[in-house]
Amino acid sequence: MDRRTFLETGMCLGASFLVGCQPKDKSQQQKETMHHQDHSSHAAANQDDKKNIAVPYTYQSPLLEREKFPSHQPLQPLKPLLNQSNTTNSFEANIEVKPHTLSLVPSLQTEFFLYNGILAGPQIVVNEGDTVKIKVTNRLTQPTTIHWHGLPVPSKQDGNPQDAIEPYGSRVYQFKLPSGSAGTYWYHSHAHGLTSEQTYKGLAGSFIVKSKDDPLRDLPEQHWLISDLRLDENGNIPENTALDWMNGREGNFVLINGQLEPKITIKGTERIRIWNACNARYLRLKILDCKIIVIGSDGGLLESPQNQEELFLSPGERYEIIVETSTKRNTHLVLLPYNREKMMQAFEPETITLAEVTVSPLDKPIPQKLRELPPLETPQETKHIVYTEVMNHSEGHGHDDMQGMSAMSMQDLQNMFLINGKTYDMGRMDLTSKVNVPEKWVIKNDSHMDHNFHLHGTQFYVLSHELNGKVSKPDYKSLKDTINLKPYETVSIICKQQLTGIRLFHCHVLEHENLGMMAQLNVLE
Ligand code: C2O
Ligand code: CU
Ligand code: CU
Repeated sequence: MDRRTFLETGMCLGASFLVGCQPKDKSQQQKETMHHQDHSSHAAANQDDKKNIAVPYTYQSPLLEREKFPSHQPLQPLKPLLNQSNTTNSFEANIEVKPHTLSLVPSLQTEFFLYNGILAGPQIVVNEGDTVKIKVTNRLTQPTTIHWHGLPVPSKQDGNPQDAIEPYGSRVYQFKLPSGSAGTYWYHSHAHGLTSEQTYKGLAGSFIVKSKDDPLRDLPEQHWLISDLRLDENGNIPENTALDWMNGREGNFVLINGQLEPKITIKGTERIRIWNACNARYLRLKILDCKIIVIGSDGGLLESPQNQEELFLSPGERYEIIVETSTKRNTHLVLLPYNREKMMQAFEPETITLAEVTVSPLDKPIPQKLRELPPLETPQETKHIVYTEVMNHSEGHGHDDMQGMSAMSMQDLQNMFLINGKTYDMGRMDLTSKVNVPEKWVIKNDSHMDHNFHLHGTQFYVLSHELNGKVSKPDYKSLKDTINLKPYETVSIICKQQLTGIRLFHCHVLEHENLGMMAQLNVLE
C-alpha cells in the first residue's frame, strides 16, 4: 500500500485522533480501560483472547511533567550481577524476574517488572571462554523468557518464545561464550505476545563479553544504557495505545542508566559503551562541540577507529565510542530529531537533552589497529525478506468503544506488520538454513515507515544499502546484529549460523515484533 492510500485509510480510522484528542466522558473512558485490562490479564494464557481487545488511540490519563522527575544527579554505574562461582572460567548467578515498586519521583510509586529489582538491569560481565549458568525464577503472573541479544548461544538457551518460563517457574540458561565473541550485548524478555510490555516495564539489562587480547583493555570504561519510560501523572506506566502499537512506543522520559538528564564526566580517553534499550525510540546522538570516535559496534571492536559527528542507534543497537574534545568543556549529550515516518502522527523536530557532560581531552593515544575481523565469505545461498504494512479494518467487531473510532482492535493491529506476507506463528518455520553455510540475505522494507532488522544467534556484515536506486556500502567493516531500514530501503547482509535450531528474526521496534513482524529460521545440520 502506498503512503497516500495508507494515510487515507488511516485517516478515516484515526479521525478523532487527527482532529485532536476529543475529550471522552468519564464513563466511556472507564469502560475502555476496564475492557482493556480485563483481557490483558489473561492474554498470556490465550492469545486469541487478545484479538477482540479494543485499544484506544489516546492516553487515558495525562503524562507526568518533566520537572517532577529528579534530574541532574551524577551518572551512576550500572549495578553488576555478581558472579557466585568460585571456579575460573565460569559465571554463575541467579536472576529473579518480578514486579518491583520504586519511587523514582518523590511521593509517587511506580510498579516495574525488574530483574533482581534493579532498574536498567543488573549488568553481566564475563570473559570469552567462560561458561555462563544463570538460574532464572519467574515471579510474574505471566510467562517470560530471557533472550541474549546478539550472543551466539544455543537456540534452546536463547529465550525463544517456545521456551517460556511459566509463572512461578524457573529454569537455568547455560552457554559457553566462544573466543571472538567479545562485545557489547544485552538481554531482555522475548515472551510470546508480551515482549513489548515486559521490556518497557523494565526487563532489560546489559551484557559485556571481554577478551584477553583486547587492545583497549586498560582504558577506563563507562556505560550508557539508554531506555525510554512513560509515566503518567500518578507515576503509573500506562499501557500501549493504538498509536504505540503502530509506531512503536516512546516514553516521556529518555533515561540513561535509569536516570533523567544525569551529569556525566569524561576524564580523557574513556571507552564508552552505549545501548539503545528503548522499545522503539531511534537515537541520533550528538555530544555538542565534540567528536565521536567509534571503536566498536554490536559485535565488538572495529578494525580501526572511525571519526563521526554523531551516532545513530535504532532500537537494539549498541556502539562503543571515545569522545574527543580540543579543550576541556561543559557540554550536552543530545538526541537530535529523526523522522522515521510514523503513521498518523506529524513529525515534530525536537532536540532532547539527555545529559550534561563535562569532557576533557584525550589523555592516552587510541591504537590505530583494534583487531582483525573475520573475512567476508562468499555466500552460497540467497534469502529474501520483505517487510510490509497492511491496514486492515475488520468491520463489525461490535465494540462499543469502536464508536467514534477512538480505538482499534488488537486483531487489526496484529495483521498490520508482515514479513514475507505473514504474521508470526511460533509453530511455523519460515526459512531453513544449513549450519555453517554463509548466506546473503536481501532485506527490503516495502513500507512507508522505518523498521529495523535483527537476526538471532549470530552477527552479520552489511554488504550494501539501496535506496531510490542508489547503492551505498557501509563506511567501515563491523559486526552487527541489528540494522535499520528506511522506507523502501533494501539492505543486503552476509551471515552464517554456527549452531542448529530455531532462530528468530524481526523488527526490533518491540511493538512490531510483538504484533508479529517476526519470523523463524530453522538451522539444520
Ligand atoms: Cu533483542 Cu529477538 O531480540
Ligand atoms: Cu536478539
Ligand atoms: Cu518495525
